[in-house]
Amino acid sequence: MKNDFLKFQAQTSPHPLAIQVSHAKGSYIYDNEGNAHLDFVAGVSACSLGHCHPKVVHAIKAQVDKYMHVMVYGEYIQEPAVAYAKLLASLLPAPLETTYLVNSGTEAIEGALKLARRYTGRSQIIAAKKAYHGNTMGSLSLMGLEERKSPFRPLIPDIAYMDFNSISDLENITSKTAAVILETIQGGAGFIEPNSGYLTKVRERCSEVGALLILDEIQPGFGRTGKLFAFENYNCVPDILVIGKGMASGLPVGAFVASNEMMNTLQDNPKMGHITTFGGNPVIASASLATLSHIVESDIMVDTLTKEKHIRRVLKHKYIKEIRGKGLMLALILETPEIADYLILTAAKEHLILFWLLFEKRAARITPPLTISLSEIDEGCEIILRILNEYEQ
Ligand SMILES: Cc1ncc(COP(=O)(O)O)c(C=O)c1O
Repeated sequence: MKNDFLKFQAQTSPHPLAIQVSHAKGSYIYDNEGNAHLDFVAGVSACSLGHCHPKVVHAIKAQVDKYMHVMVYGEYIQEPAVAYAKLLASLLPAPLETTYLVNSGTEAIEGALKLARRYTGRSQIIAAKKAYHGNTMGSLSLMGLEERKSPFRPLIPDIAYMDFNSISDLENITSKTAAVILETIQGGAGFIEPNSGYLTKVRERCSEVGALLILDEIQPGFGRTGKLFAFENYNCVPDILVIGKGMASGLPVGAFVASNEMMNTLQDNPKMGHITTFGGNPVIASASLATLSHIVESDIMVDTLTKEKHIRRVLKHKYIKEIRGKGLMLALILETPEIADYLILTAAKEHLILFWLLFEKRAARITPPLTISLSEIDEGCEIILRILNEYEQ
């Protein structure tokens, strides 16, 4: 199977972890040899309710028995998508009211960029250096790291960059700017939180010059930081909210949310300004609805903060220089990239799943399912501490 995997399935890196998955449940992924791998990554923050949460599985099965795909996005009334968009609107502050459902995070970013240009009639987009918003041409154009973009040029024009957390850079936002796009917490850059007051100042500057603020919550959204959306931690409401990943507990999905008035501009001039076949798919919308309902009806968000405190208390070691992030979006910043590599690769051998961050090479991510228990956290932390104790420089 491994040879077939390497030959017939396109590879993204020369050395994939290549666990052969048999099944997955809760916080564990089981391989074909019967090993249980404790999952501290959750499909890169996607499996918010753990693997195969019974409520999500039930919702999917019930929907599959009724209908799966009937028509391209937006033409027919399909209850799961409508119910989902309505519930989401009831949980979001004004003006975030109308949701466009798509297939992935990167497509949601593309939709948000198009909406910003269409609505403002302006073209400039300002992104943050070391941002990660996805890998299609538009979202890739936002990445403020030239070495990852140059082989794919030309990308979309009129993108400018500012330093995340720099107040002086806010002057670059002008009446030519269609939108500023930021990750609420920068992921690939190393789980960098906005400084106190930073997002409020970005918001003010955008409003001053008529630019839109787009917040990418694809990773921190859906309870991961102890609030439904991370922006609630920082006193700032975007004009366009972009979501994905943990939204459907492991099925492929994304969405962008804006005011009804703004979103309606995509209907005309040109007609059908964004169209997509499978966006709003009823099976995925059912999984999204079950996930969101469970997150808001349970204690999961409050518990996330207790679990964060627990991890911070337990994971103390001379090689761990810092733990960045919030809630269950945490990154161990190790002394060197070599220690990070050693930890992640040795943990994999000991059946604890950790993973790298894109740009911060000293980091090991801890983004487990939000449903992980304290004893499972202890089990993983013990492995991490043991590996670090054994590391010899
Ligand atoms: C902040 C952020 N934006 C966008 C994306 C892209 O989402 P997707 O991989 O679903 O296209 C990701 C994925 O890692 C992300 O973390």
